[in-house]
Amino acid sequence: MKTLPKNTQSKESILQMMDDARHQDAKWKDGRTFSLVYYAGEEISNLVKEAYMKFFHENGLNPMAFPSLQKFETEVLSMTANLFHGDKNTVGSLTSGGTESILMAVKTYRDYARKVRPEVTEPEIILPISVHAAFEKAAHYFNVKPIHIPLTDEYRVDTNAVRQAINENTILIIGSAPAYPQGIMDPIQELSNIALEHNLPLHVDACLGGFILPFLKELGYPIPPFDFELPGVTSISADIHKYGYAAKGVSTILYRTDELRKHQYFAYADWPGGIFVSPTATGTRPGGAIAAAWAVMNYLGLEGYVKLAKKSISTTHKIIEGIRAIPELYILGNPEATVFSVGSDEVNVFSVADEMEQLGWHMDRQQNPTCLHFMITPAHEAVTDQFIKDLETSVRDVKENPEKYQSGSAAMYGMMGEIPDRSEVDQYLIHMLNDLMRLK
Ligand SMILES: Cc1ncc(COP(=O)(O)O)c(C=O)c1O
Repeated sequence: MKTLPKNTQSKESILQMMDDARHQDAKWKDGRTFSLVYYAGEEISNLVKEAYMKFFHENGLNPMAFPSLQKFETEVLSMTANLFHGDKNTVGSLTSGGTESILMAVKTYRDYARKVRPEVTEPEIILPISVHAAFEKAAHYFNVKPIHIPLTDEYRVDTNAVRQAINENTILIIGSAPAYPQGIMDPIQELSNIALEHNLPLHVDACLGGFILPFLKELGYPIPPFDFELPGVTSISADIHKYGYAAKGVSTILYRTDELRKHQYFAYADWPGGIFVSPTATGTRPGGAIAAAWAVMNYLGLEGYVKLAKKSISTTHKIIEGIRAIPELYILGNPEATVFSVGSDEVNVFSVADEMEQLGWHMDRQQNPTCLHFMITPAHEAVTDQFIKDLETSVRDVKENPEKYQSGSAAMYGMMGEIPDRSEVDQYLIHMLNDLMRLK
């Protein structure tokens, strides 16, 4: 096993080892990745880094110790609520990311239902199959039953199926704006109507779209309503560390009223360590992430975000146009924003992805249906032509040499897809992760 070095080492050698370690990392700065990193150029990155470093040591756990962080957090939440047609009753919290915001939403509604509907002993949540896996995790953590709802041919949740799934145990409806897999928005307006008819809360997951949809709307794109403007929407999650371009580790969860949020909070008055109250799942909260979110939102302002959204959407349209010109490929549905997926009836797109990876692109594979996932940012503007050229070459190669692609990710997904007991596949994945994270 690796041990703690016996002696202090020089700063230079440490930094050199770190640079060496990242040699094989995905090349996000060159626009070679389509997930994980949202990059809008050095100017913004440098501002975010500087702001983060200013509050590098501070801890958002205790807002009374750091009024600065309290100011940043409440102002960030206020600016976000304002983007989503919130009002003076809107409240929220900053969390460490989309997953924590989603975990908090599900826990909040579970505890709210316990209070207002104590007769519900086996709570259920209505989950379109396209929602982020974090909802599945939340259902697992908080012991609520996920009721999976299929999508229409347009990859939006089937609202008739939502209506049919509602019963006396339902405590929450969820919709995405947009959903991760195809980048397509659920019909939130209709979900809002259903929620009101049944007197149920509706959470909108705008983790991905929250910091781009309002700006696309500003640019005149036809973005359907998805936020507090719809009376049935009771909460929204939106990640500043995605299209908000903040440092990693910051998302928002907003509620229409404090009556809901108070079920998110946790207090313990008898702790020997002092009276304890905490807003979210974590204890210590990195001051740097909170400060950097405040800094980037104030730095960019509406003008900056609209400019970036324009760059991302025009790059998206250019890439989609290039993909549509490749006869073997198609885009799934009609995505509204800057996230989309690509499928084919003629070539195995996983083999295409394998080939693209040989050419230096980091590709994201999806299943049910088989497709590739793309999230476009300003970083992709400069590589659009190269990407399309490489994609054409890869499709041609896979088509002309199918025998070359008998193994690889197509074979692996194919094999996993054929195992009827999905819990067996889950166990296999856990085993794989165990293996990957063995101590070195
Ligand atoms: C729609 C949606 N919700 C939630 C999440 C989870 O966010 P995080 O990875 O920050 O936990 C993502 C991540 O891509 C997402 O796209």
